[in-house]
Amino acid sequence: MKPQETLDQVAAEVSVCTLCPLHHSRKNAVPGAGPANAKIMFIGEGPGFHENEQGLPFVGAAGKFLDELLASIGLTRAEVFITNVVKCRPPGNRDPEPQELEACDPYLERQIQAINPAVIVTLGRFSMGKFMPNAKISQVHGQPRQVNGRLVVPMFHPAAALHQASLKPVVQADFARLPGLIAQAETTSPPPEEEKDDSTPQQLSFF
Ligand code: URA
Ligand code: SF4
Repeated sequence: MKPQETLDQVAAEVSVCTLCPLHHSRKNAVPGAGPANAKIMFIGEGPGFHENEQGLPFVGAAGKFLDELLASIGLTRAEVFITNVVKCRPPGNRDPEPQELEACDPYLERQIQAINPAVIVTLGRFSMGKFMPNAKISQVHGQPRQVNGRLVVPMFHPAAALHQASLKPVVQADFARLPGLIAQAETTSPPPEEEKDDSTPQQLSFF
């Protein structure tokens, strides 16, 4: 399947998914948005009120700040893929439960495999937890780490910076490092490609 077809397929499945209890209260599932060839992927926590209404990620206040952060490094939404660790809104914006994260993770995995981004930015502790289970966000924010051959950069959630003003310059400074990290990831360590059928080269080697 082509990457875009995989993303469309995931979105279709998510829109009718009943794999965890979050499906009971959702209005619209939020699969994520962005181009299949994005070099950078942002992974947040879960849809909030406005996202649940519109079926799109980061369209509320945190999304506005995210747009500003993207603009500050010369990026627009048209160039990045944005999604969440759970695709349906936790009621009252409560934290996602471990079994909800687990049930929803295969969708995120398929999106990552399809897009194959050079860099993944995690927004908040739940998406960081997927890649760095024991890390503390206050200690590791902004520091890239190689996870399964891919560069992952943990960041504070934009909503956290809206609630705690002192975090705003921290998030802005972490974002400012991204262009360099993307360039570095693209030149020094190409992200893993999907498994290829290697029978042809093996056969050729016999001749
Ligand atoms: N917060 C998130 O983590 N994700 C969204 O899509 C919106 C707000
Ligand atoms: Fe399915 Fe994920 Fe929604 Fe749960 S949060 S119902 S696993 S799409």
